[in-house]
Amino acid sequence: MRRHPAAFARIGAPVLTSEAPTEPIQHMTIDGETASGQTLDPKEVERFAALAADWWDPNGKFKPLHELNPVRLAYIRDHLCRHFGRDPRAAASLEGLTVLDIGCGGGLLCEPLARLGAQVTGIDPAEESIAAARQHASREALDIAYLASRAEDVAADGATFDAVLTMEVVEHVPDVPAFLALCAKLVRPGGLLLLSTINRTLKSYALAIVGAEYILRWLPVGTHQWDRFVTPGELTAGLQAAGLGVLDSAGMVYNPLLGDWRLAADTDVNYLMAAERP
Ligand SMILES: C[S@@+](CC[C@H](N)C(=O)[O-])C[C@H]1O[C@@H](n2cnc3c(N)ncnc32)[C@H](O)[C@@H]1O
Repeated sequence: MRRHPAAFARIGAPVLTSEAPTEPIQHMTIDGETASGQTLDPKEVERFAALAADWWDPNGKFKPLHELNPVRLAYIRDHLCRHFGRDPRAAASLEGLTVLDIGCGGGLLCEPLARLGAQVTGIDPAEESIAAARQHASREALDIAYLASRAEDVAADGATFDAVLTMEVVEHVPDVPAFLALCAKLVRPGGLLLLSTINRTLKSYALAIVGAEYILRWLPVGTHQWDRFVTPGELTAGLQAAGLGVLDSAGMVYNPLLGDWRLAADTDVNYLMAAERP
């Protein structure tokens, strides 16, 4: 895809210049010392906290997450069922599995996973989001443990889970390898870590930032910073450095004619990954 910097500037989008990072960026360095060690950016958390009233509005600020939910839920369910020998067609296919959702926001994934029988714990550093998640789960009579906590707090307790999810979170985290190491600690040996995020490509700049934020207004301007996007190679390296083995990756692609998201081989923009703790 060709860039049209002048057009991006006209609509107010930040222009990618030749100075924009094209090499792996510093916070993604896997060798430890160059990264800040910061696993949380308070400004990112505040941005989501300010939108907390919108979590469960399918046409609100989180509309894209509502639209993504069926495809990512199916990916999570199918990987968990394959890994733990369950029948994905069963109504309670995840019965008894313990699942931790890190950065759960309003609980858009916690609720359907709980309905499939999983014992779900959702954590998010934004108290406002956890309050919205609790309120919604209580209206739906779902038993989900929600905590306004950081992954560090749960890891400090020594807790581990059959599966840990962190969906659409790593692109909001300053030091991704340090965050992945924390997530890995929370997976029990033999358990799974499932992630979704956005690749750092020109196509993701055009679609996820210029398209989704500036033209279609699907997301508030400033939701994403392109240089925080994470390539599949970087994510794989971070997961391996955290002692996990990558089992699978898959793209998620939007079909504007059908208005839905599908799994695809194309990981240029949105993608998922599944990794196992040996
Ligand atoms: C795009 S939302 C995704 C919410 C949810 N995972 C989903 O996919 O429906 C990003 C969430 O990550 C949370 N977050 C940001 N930085 C985080 C961090 N370092 N640790 C845990 N959660 C974080 C935000 O508060 C926000 O709720």
